[in-house]
Amino acid sequence: MLAGRLTLDMNDNLHQLRCFGCGVRIRGDQAGSIFRCKDCGDLFEVEYPGWGLVGGTDRPNAGALKWLWRERRASSEQLDHSGVWRFREMLPILDSFGNAVTLREGNTPLYHLPRAAKALGVDQLFAKHQGMNPTGSFKDTGMTSALSVAKERGFEWVACASTGNTSAAMAAYAARAGLKCLVLIPQGKIAWGKLAQAMDYGAVTCQLKTDFDGCVKVLSTIVQRAPIYLLNSVNPYRLEGQKTPALEIAEYFDWSAPEHLLVPGGNLANSSALGKGFREMKELGLISRLPKISVIQAEGANPLVRSFLANDGQSMEPVAANTRATAIRIGNPASWRKASRVIHETGGWCLDVSEGEIAVAKAELGREGIGSEPASAVTLAGLKKLVAQGKVAPSDTVVLLLTGHTLKDADYTIDFHRGTLLKPEEAEPVLPEIAALRRDAVEVEATPDAVLKALKEIQDRWIQR
Ligand code: F0G
Repeated sequence: MLAGRLTLDMNDNLHQLRCFGCGVRIRGDQAGSIFRCKDCGDLFEVEYPGWGLVGGTDRPNAGALKWLWRERRASSEQLDHSGVWRFREMLPILDSFGNAVTLREGNTPLYHLPRAAKALGVDQLFAKHQGMNPTGSFKDTGMTSALSVAKERGFEWVACASTGNTSAAMAAYAARAGLKCLVLIPQGKIAWGKLAQAMDYGAVTCQLKTDFDGCVKVLSTIVQRAPIYLLNSVNPYRLEGQKTPALEIAEYFDWSAPEHLLVPGGNLANSSALGKGFREMKELGLISRLPKISVIQAEGANPLVRSFLANDGQSMEPVAANTRATAIRIGNPASWRKASRVIHETGGWCLDVSEGEIAVAKAELGREGIGSEPASAVTLAGLKKLVAQGKVAPSDTVVLLLTGHTLKDADYTIDFHRGTLLKPEEAEPVLPEIAALRRDAVEVEATPDAVLKALKEIQDRWIQR
């Protein structure tokens, strides 16, 4: 209680924006409607100048922070119940933390994955499940931070282009804050669960006859013509909330980092945000080393992988994206430079995985009782490759960042188990795995005898395998 009040009385807003490309620094409210540098066109990053000065009054003290954040777990203040705002000293972006719009996001579970660990020969394998957030994806952690800024700055309208999860999160937080919101989504290319959420929370939803990258283009013109606050991840305040799972992970491991963190790559903001979180923790003395952060993309939407193969992530060519993991069906990711820096500075890797590998990895996670979106399962598929390449040692601690809830895209799961998801050539390299994992529902007469007979037949089939 006392700890919460202490910080609310302080000057909450200590940030400025720094251009990632040319390094120019501006005030937070000078960023313009598309959040791109007027000089070089690159994205901004939030920075806290007071942190640099060791011994300075604005530099948080690592020991005091750890104590304060632990105390807040027992606090009855609403803000302390948020896994994002519990760490608010790490994101002093609001004039008053009292303006924070929260749905009790964060505080997500870190599950041990004993079966996958055993199969891969890795002792310590965990899944940080960001799909256990209020709207079922990691986007909530970034939405609570950026939408709070929109509200504090007096905007009435907010907007995003989305593959589905950003729009679901934005719509929910806008509804909480009493703001109006506009969603642009690619027609027919997002999972129904996500579209349903945007409608449920009262968004104005436009389905455009284009892909995600096309929606982004249309929206950047709209926000320059109308007073609408852009909540795509080019907005640097999104990343401030999205970096907090890094704090939760470090706190779980008693303020140390795992050896490896694997993150799905779409628009590449999440990997950038988590890298920023670990970097800042190291700068402030909260942890002593960084995890290796690896970004995993789908083969059909792999512009960063191609960039690393071509020139070690120095430049990137957009691709025409196609994958059934629709959340990461993105060909021209906005935050690729930031993500490339994170991979370089942490010593991680960038790799891609096939449609078959994604489907199998998702079913394997399911078998551990951990449902997830297909886009999340790229992490387990990617880990298999890193282990096979000898890049992960058996004694390493590994965390997979799962980004979305399994119910977001139930069609994908049902199609997999019915055997209609993959084309024969996609399934062919993973046929034995698929056969072991598929659990189609069987139609049976409504009698105990019929159900017991079906059960016996299924068990006999398992034994034959
Ligand atoms: N996983 C899920 C479930 C996602 O929804 C996304 C992105 C990602 C991974 C990739 O994260 O873009 O930060 O690299 N979804 C966005 C959206 C683009 O509109 O919901 P990223």
